[in-house]
Amino acid sequence: MQKYACGVMTGDATAAARALRTGGLAALPTETVYGLGALATDPDALARIYEVKGRPSDHPVIVHISGIGAASEWARMVPDSARLLAAAFWPGPLTLVLPRAALASDTITGGQETVALRAPAHPLFQEVLALLESDGLNAPGIAAPSANRFGRVSPTTASHVSEELGSRLIEGRDVILDGGPCAVGVESTIVIWSPESDTWQVAREGGVTAAQLAEIVPVSTASTEPSQRVPGALASHYSPAARVLLSSAESLSEVAAKGPVGLIADTAVATPPGWQRLCSPGDPEAYARDLYAALRSADADGIATVVAVPPPGPGLAAAVRDRLTRAAR
Ligand code: TXA
Ligand code: MG
Repeated sequence: MQKYACGVMTGDATAAARALRTGGLAALPTETVYGLGALATDPDALARIYEVKGRPSDHPVIVHISGIGAASEWARMVPDSARLLAAAFWPGPLTLVLPRAALASDTITGGQETVALRAPAHPLFQEVLALLESDGLNAPGIAAPSANRFGRVSPTTASHVSEELGSRLIEGRDVILDGGPCAVGVESTIVIWSPESDTWQVAREGGVTAAQLAEIVPVSTASTEPSQRVPGALASHYSPAARVLLSSAESLSEVAAKGPVGLIADTAVATPPGWQRLCSPGDPEAYARDLYAALRSADADGIATVVAVPPPGPGLAAAVRDRLTRAAR
């Protein structure tokens, strides 16, 4: 059992539930990345999320709930297709965007008529929700964007959260709940429901793949931009301080970079002489899990340029390519 001498870090879900209940913030582990949570019904705490992250206040946040039973508190319509998706993938790395109910305030939805809902799989997160519910809160919701400063790399460990936000959190009021490293490592898949056609559109790729979704519900393959604003889909996002360049394994020798270079590539790819290896994932799952920590370690080591060889193929590899492309802009 890890010991925490002082400060905002804790291993105790009770401390996180207490922080939320009393108007504080709790950074919470999920299976994707760590979230910076506030009670979704607490306007002052919600305002502090934006302040602590340095995030524009018109950006919507995901409301995390215990399961589909709580969805109708936040969404005005919960179609059968949403229930099928929840039955297949919740708790898990899938976020459903549905027409909002009154409880989903403008601060949560960014003024849009929809709300994003997700039931996270991490047991400590679920324990926090259960504790809030046992307090008498009916179907509690925790609004939580990723626990990083705006535009930066999402944290996949509690110490990453502490590095990003520790100085902006208040001891005795806010906590960081340490639930170990995140199992998936990239943010959830976001799907937006269209009431007109009862179809779903993928707005952000993640741990649940388009092919998996299409086995359960109609998925629209419209290649146009989603009709809703998804700021996590901003062209430049998920960025370390280092410059990120993408390369094929064959073209590594042609990469011209000044200063120290770090490499992120499959185990099978050799590290060019003089470069620092940042991580060597053996499959797309490991790539997703290790990517953000590798980008962070580049910054910590003063590496000026990160060269990444994106993983080929569908599924989680597609989500990794998406994040790498954004980090490279
Ligand atoms: O895995 C995840 O989704 C993590 C963990 C903490 O759950 N959360 C996360 O939150 O990545 P955030 O705020 O960094 O990204 C959420 C994305 C943003 O791109 C936001 O624009 C989008 O979800 N979003 C939220 N509400 C939306 C809505 N009503 N319509 C469309 N997109 C929405
Ligand atoms: Mg984020």
